[in-house]
Amino acid sequence: MKGIILAGGSATRLYPLSKAISKQIMPVYDKPMIYYPLSTLMLAGINETLIISTPRDLPVFRELLGTGENLGMRIDYIVQEKPNGLAEAFLLGADFLNGEAGCLILGDNLFYGQGFSSMLQRAAGIKKGACIFGYYVKDPREYGVVEFDANGNVLSLEEKPDNPKSNYAIPGLYFYDNTVVKKAQSLQPSKRGELEITDLNKLYLYEKTLKVELFGRGFAWLDTGNCDSLLEASNFVETIQKRQGFYVSCIEEIAWRNRWISSVQLEKLGNELNKTAYGKYLLDLLANH
Ligand code: G1P
Repeated sequence: MKGIILAGGSATRLYPLSKAISKQIMPVYDKPMIYYPLSTLMLAGINETLIISTPRDLPVFRELLGTGENLGMRIDYIVQEKPNGLAEAFLLGADFLNGEAGCLILGDNLFYGQGFSSMLQRAAGIKKGACIFGYYVKDPREYGVVEFDANGNVLSLEEKPDNPKSNYAIPGLYFYDNTVVKKAQSLQPSKRGELEITDLNKLYLYEKTLKVELFGRGFAWLDTGNCDSLLEASNFVETIQKRQGFYVSCIEEIAWRNRWISSVQLEKLGNELNKTAYGKYLLDLLANH
């Protein structure tokens, strides 16, 4: 399974911040936003990732994350010229996927909760079909929405419905088998002119191979799409980190725990940053190990 992070698109609700910097580079407490989705892929065990972004922002991501070698990963980059929709990620990423299964995560989605890694690893093991998620929200109108019957079978999927049939929003994290590129190639643009991820998911639904897993109420799926939610996400990360002393989405720590880098490599990364709290945290991991 390979990963794709879509880190572009419209950031109009963050204007004028978004005029100055790429949305997914904006800080969520102490890290660039893209660290959060990247760490989600890493927790799923995915160490080959493609980052898709705008012509303006892609060089910034490349500068930030490089080849991924430092993390024992491979990170590739490709431009999305226009925000043509989330499903376009699989057209742009076709060569990168090279016939393999793929997981797409949106660059502004932040997940946190107990048992998340094992859920991710299960989803990443999918051989046939797709696995997406559902999360209860008060107002699902700005999301994809999934409707179930009494036995938990999916009845419908709708993109940003005015009258949602349920409160279950679909987060921006999708696992697909290796038919995803072919399916994405068959999509037509929607009324808003985009290749919709919901239309792609419907193809799996009609094929009866769509699995929807629910995140419980103890789980956090945060959106960072506007100034309020960005600040709330920062406060959330700050609260957890200060209370426990563990960093949320520390990519170097995850790479080390995944055994993608050795303790010697982690020490080197820590030493390079030893004047920062972040670097000290990395070195403390080794000391307390
Ligand atoms: C997109 C998807 C939507 C999904 C949401 C999650 O919406 O189209 O189905 O629920 O991401 O963040 P957008 O961010 O493009 O408004």
